[in-house]
Amino acid sequence: MKSVSSSSSTSAGDNYNLTSSSFISEFLVSLKDDPPPVFGHDNAKKFLKESVIIPLLYPSMPSWKGVLLFGPAGVGKSSLIKSIVSSVNEKYKERIKVHLFECSASGIVNKYRGESEKILKGVFSAARSIKAPVSPSSTPASADLLNVSIIFIDELDSIFSSTAHDESSSRLRVELLKHIDGVESVSAAGNNRVIVVGATNRPWDLGDALVRRFEKRCYIALPEEEDRRAIVDYHLAGVRIGGDVDREDVVRRTAGLSGADLKVLCREACMGPLRRFLVGVSPKDFTKADLAEITPEVLGMVEREDFERAVMNTRRTVGDVKRLETFDADFGSR
Ligand SMILES: Nc1ncnc2c1ncn2[C@@H]1O[C@H](COP(=O)(O)OP(=O)(O)OP(=O)(O)O)[C@@H](O)[C@H]1O
Ligand SMILES: [Mg+2]
Repeated sequence: MKSVSSSSSTSAGDNYNLTSSSFISEFLVSLKDDPPPVFGHDNAKKFLKESVIIPLLYPSMPSWKGVLLFGPAGVGKSSLIKSIVSSVNEKYKERIKVHLFECSASGIVNKYRGESEKILKGVFSAARSIKAPVSPSSTPASADLLNVSIIFIDELDSIFSSTAHDESSSRLRVELLKHIDGVESVSAAGNNRVIVVGATNRPWDLGDALVRRFEKRCYIALPEEEDRRAIVDYHLAGVRIGGDVDREDVVRRTAGLSGADLKVLCREACMGPLRRFLVGVSPKDFTKADLAEITPEVLGMVEREDFERAVMNTRRTVGDVKRLETFDADFGSR
């Protein structure tokens, strides 16, 4: 998540240089070639390919104004879009460059009157005009690279609820609606094609007008048992685990936890050996050299009791799943 740096977020009334590279880099996501895997969500991956990537790849095809990902916290909404854009940029690198801009509450909601709208305007304008640099060694095909942009507006609900019902929130909402509406005509004018992707944990807080602009809406659900197994295995890869640990039991007992919760649970369990090691001693009893020698081999295995403690202590951080399912039944795209 990027925020406007103190150098660009100056005082009330100061103007942003909306075209400066430092402004653009605040919002442009630098994607890793090899992002961490996102397990499961097969429907959502298919949905994003069909509703976002294919229209970007084939500019003559009609596209959607906006696409919404909604679901509990920590299920991988933000990770999904980054992972898909990375893989498209890698797979079609001779043909297309997808620029991913990310706006979240901390980057967009500005305490100074009117600044949030300016920031939003600047991001849309940068998304329309940004081009990948063409290196001198580029082949003719890569010089014809198709530049397209995705504006990913994360935490949509907090952008609006943090200034809920006041004048600045309504102005920002109107500005966002205007930009989303303008995306189609701008595409036709020969600039980069732009698609807006929003994400939220509380879609009912967005209001009808905004929900309607997100013409395609996809529910990103909690991980199923098979996906929880994959997430747990991923976070325990390379960890020394005792023979008495029943991973299947851990996976079964973590229904209702998000991917982010599972990551915390695995970290919690992996702290077990260190906790045992430190019983009766304090880190200050060790010299720096001693500390360097405390390796996983010295500490020992992660035991069943460590997982027990982790399962008992890790609370689900997801919100109102029933309400999300109802929203999906009422407004989710099929
Ligand atoms: N299905 C999954 N596969 C792999 N990792 C996952 C999965 N779901 C969540 N995670 C991990 O959980 C963490 C949080 O994921 P992410 O930020 O993408 O979730 P989110 O749905 O956008 O959360 P929020 O609603 O808080 O914005 C990341 O480290 C991510 O790798
Ligand atoms: Mg997110």
